[in-house]
Amino acid sequence: MAFKTLRKTLGIRAKFITAMALLGILALVGIGYGAYTFSMQNSMREADTKAKIMEAYVKAGRAYFMKEQRPLVNALVEADRFYPELQSGFGITRRILDQVQEKSLQGFMFKQASLVPHHPPNKADLFEQNIIKRFQTEKNSELTGVVEKEGKPFYYRSRPITMAGEGCLQCHKDPAEAPKDLLELYGTDGFDKNFKSGDIFAAYMIYVPLGPAIEAAKTQAAILFGGGALMTIFGLLIIYFFLDIRIVKPLMELSARTQEVSVGRNLDKSLLSGKMKDEVETLARSIDRLRISLVKMLKRRKND
Ligand code: HEC
Repeated sequence: MAFKTLRKTLGIRAKFITAMALLGILALVGIGYGAYTFSMQNSMREADTKAKIMEAYVKAGRAYFMKEQRPLVNALVEADRFYPELQSGFGITRRILDQVQEKSLQGFMFKQASLVPHHPPNKADLFEQNIIKRFQTEKNSELTGVVEKEGKPFYYRSRPITMAGEGCLQCHKDPAEAPKDLLELYGTDGFDKNFKSGDIFAAYMIYVPLGPAIEAAKTQAAILFGGGALMTIFGLLIIYFFLDIRIVKPLMELSARTQEVSVGRNLDKSLLSGKMKDEVETLARSIDRLRISLVKMLKRRKND
């Protein structure tokens, strides 16, 4: 009911402006949302590229160590000695990545997360345990996605680490078989007698911070929405005044004059005024012709 009465009381101007404003808000929300999703998609792709670059570097470093350096180092080091800084590929990678995340790529996180680690900070947290479990059951070669860590959003990229053979088992399965130096340095916690060749027990985890990208996407969407809203308001004001000056006021004037004529006042005065332009002027001319005919008819009647 209230809506009906409101619709009746509102004039052309108000109705038109309301309709345009509603359309404008709808379009702006669409544009803002679209801009946000689009730039988030871009950020995801960018984060994935960054993670892939790190992954490629780690992979190449590891391959080089295994193929070129390890045989030489093992030949040089006495048989019953073990220096993780020289002889453990994962140990070397971990030490380099610790430096990278501390000094060069702050906010990034790299981890060789293991269910049973030698180096305690490598212990897989709940999220990483879940990833390793998925690698075990789903047999994926990689998993990617978004995760929140310590209240901050990250894009993660992960790959499974498999117990490749007897070499790995020697240092990860049974303390009795491991080098004495390893036990002295790391203790006996990082072993599991149930490990066998082919087991997936760990994962490379690369975390790329998404916080700055999300902030940038939000700012971009807000600027588009705010700028668009300002321009819409400005445009609607121009339309409002245009309708007021060119249509509503001339029509009201024409209506008032027509009413005068209908009660026989100011019959000889033209209905047209300088304010009436375009179609309103055409309408005024037609009604004015009606007025002239009426005046002529009245005169003829008087003469008869
Ligand atoms: C000579 C002993 C030795 C061999 C062989 C060895 N590792 Fe390790 N591994 C270590 C030590 C020591 C560390 C801890 C390095 C550090 O300080 O971060 C380690 C760390 C790891 C980690 C990180 C989690 C953790 O335990 O801290 C993974 C994953 C891992 N090794 C997998 C493997 C795989 C797979 C192989 C076989 C391809 C292998 N290792 C062979 C000694 C060994």
